[in-house]
Amino acid sequence: PAPEPQPTIPRVKLVLLGDSGVGKSCLVLRYVRRQFDPQSQVTVGAAFMSHSVHLPDGSTVKFEIWDTAGQERYASLAPLYYRGAAAAAIVYDITNPDSFQKAKHWVGELKKNAGDNIVIVLVGNKSDLVENRVISIEDGEELASQHSMLFAETSAKTAAGVSTVFELIAQKFA
Ligand code: GTP
Ligand code: MG
Repeated sequence: PAPEPQPTIPRVKLVLLGDSGVGKSCLVLRYVRRQFDPQSQVTVGAAFMSHSVHLPDGSTVKFEIWDTAGQERYASLAPLYYRGAAAAAIVYDITNPDSFQKAKHWVGELKKNAGDNIVIVLVGNKSDLVENRVISIEDGEELASQHSMLFAETSAKTAAGVSTVFELIAQKFA
């Protein structure tokens, strides 16, 4: 008998943006390999990983993830990764106000230069560092709602909220 036709799995190009040290690479490592590296090295250029997410409704989405380098010297490379991206995660560190300012910068740059239909999620990472928190959940939610972005707080260290980020995005494409 002829094999059953396989449904085509939607592919979603996702770019991670944000200041150096906010935890972009750790979020990807947590999501894809369920690990945490306390000595994560800075990313050079960008790193690529693909991973599929299975949603509760039975559908599947395949992420093609570009984890960009946050150091200033790589800033000019970012358009190579966000152009043509279906989704972007803009990450800040809830203990670092400079990283929140940088997130605002990325929002502006994406609104100006990325496609009109790009799905953006604002991610406040390091939620485990409760005693060092500087940016409140309300600050994050407000910025997200001002620019029609999704919002989540995460900890790559404890895994809190990490799969939520990817599922929020996946739901838009399933
Ligand atoms: P660039 O590659 O330079 O852009 O940085 P990055 O955003 O990829 O940061 P990376 O993931 O390498 O993490 C930077 C540091 O933050 C590392 O020491 C991580 O162990 C730490 N870190 C990342 N996520 C968390 C988190 O959720 N909680 C805590 N406590 N530390 C974290
Ligand atoms: Mg990195």
